[in-house]
Amino acid sequence: MRVNGQQVQIPEQAHGQRLLDFLRDTLGLIGAKEGCGMGECGSCTVVIDGRAMTSCLVLVGQVADAEVRTVEGLAAAGHTALQDAFVARQAVQCGYCIPGVLNSCAALLDRVAEPDDEQICRALDGNLCRCTGYNRFYDATHDAAAARATERGGRAAERNTAAHHKAADNAAAEGES
Ligand code: FES
Ligand code: FES
Repeated sequence: MRVNGQQVQIPEQAHGQRLLDFLRDTLGLIGAKEGCGMGECGSCTVVIDGRAMTSCLVLVGQVADAEVRTVEGLAAAGHTALQDAFVARQAVQCGYCIPGVLNSCAALLDRVAEPDDEQICRALDGNLCRCTGYNRFYDATHDAAAARATERGGRAAERNTAAHHKAADNAAAEGES
């Protein structure tokens, strides 16, 4: 299994363990939280091979060859804008649901660059939050999508400028020879 980009060895006895427990107790990744333990609250949501899934219902042996991402791996996966947007929108109150919510929103943004409300609604279908109010999750996800689009635009502009300079240098060099 790879977790947040790192290869992780799975001891034989851990194959029957819940992924949630393995992440928290063995790997020390305590971002994923246990709420219901029955697949209904979404506080344990992580991203497995690109899909947001409840880690309380997954056994380690079922994902031995998978790529797992927890909330601790979000920044390295390019989701700083999402984390920043949740802070800026004050989309966090007690915070218990937030790792799962962030993982669901990040998995959506990985698939859909600029999701609409309907898509965000579907992505958050399995995440229960009892204190913040979902509007702030929607706003933060839209903000993150916009920030990422701006970033992509900036990088494209830099590439164009670099290509333009290179072409100009080549033309000048040819002119001199
Ligand atoms: S703890 Fe996994 S869905 Fe509630
Ligand atoms: S922020 Fe408290 S449950 Fe969501």
